[in-house]
Amino acid sequence: MSDSPREEIFSSLQHIAIIMDGNGRWAQRRHLPRLLGHRAGVKAVERIVRATTSYHIPYLSLYAFSTENWKRPQTEVKGLMSLFKFYIRKKIDELREEGVRLRFAGRIQGVPDDIREIMYQAENITKDGERLQLIVCLNYGGRQEILDAIQHIVRESDGTDITDETFRKYLYLPDVPDPDLIIRTSGEQRLSNFWLWQGAYSELYFTSVLWPDFTEKTLKDAIDSFEKRDRRYGGIQS
Ligand code: FPP
Repeated sequence: MSDSPREEIFSSLQHIAIIMDGNGRWAQRRHLPRLLGHRAGVKAVERIVRATTSYHIPYLSLYAFSTENWKRPQTEVKGLMSLFKFYIRKKIDELREEGVRLRFAGRIQGVPDDIREIMYQAENITKDGERLQLIVCLNYGGRQEILDAIQHIVRESDGTDITDETFRKYLYLPDVPDPDLIIRTSGEQRLSNFWLWQGAYSELYFTSVLWPDFTEKTLKDAIDSFEKRDRRYGGIQS
C-alpha cells in the first residue's frame, strides 16, 4: 500500500476530463471582449494542470476547441488559434521540465498549418513526460472520432469481428484510459460531442463556476464528489 495518502485516496481516478465552458460569459459580466475571457481561461488551465500533477492523477484532458467551434465569429476563432499557439510555445519547456507530456486529440489535419506544426513539435519535445499526460482536444468531436475510426476500419479490414477492444484501437488516442470523471463548468449540463465513446461510464460533475473562475478548490470539490460515487458499470451495488 502506498504511504502517500493522496495517491491512496485518488487511486481510482486516473483520468479527469473537463469541458471548459463560460469564458464568454465571464468576459461579458466584466464588459470585456470575449477573447479576454479565453485568456483568463488559459490561467485556469495553468492552475488545474499544476493541481492535477500534485494529486498524482496521470491523465487530464481539456476540451479546447470543438469541430463545431469554427462556426464562431472569425475574430474569435482567430483569437483562439493565436492563444493556443502562444500557450503551447510559451509552455513547451516548462511542461517538459515538469514531466508533463502534451498530446492532442481531434482532426489535426483540419488545424491551420502553423499551429499543427507547433502541436507536433510540442508532442515530440514533451514525449518523455511521465507525471501527467495533458490531452488537449482541438478540432475534436466525438461523433467525428467514431466516424474516423469506422472509415479507418473499412479501409483496413473486412469489418467482421469488431469488438469493443478492437474498435478502440482506431480511436485518436487508444492507449489513454477512459475518463473516470467528466467535469463541465458554467452550469450547462450536456456533453456537447465530447468523448462520446470513451465517456460511456464516466461520472459527470456539473458546476455553475465559470471556467476562468475554476480553482484548485473547485477541482477538489469535483474529486470529493467523485470519491462518493458508486460506480457499477451496469452491474449491481457493491
Ligand atoms: C467555451 O466557453 C470555451 C472555449 C470554446 C474555448 C476554451 C479555450 C480555452 C480555455 C483557452 C485555453 C486552452 C488551452 C488548452 C490553452 P464559451 O466561449 O463558450 O463561453 P460562453 O458559453 O460563456 O460564451
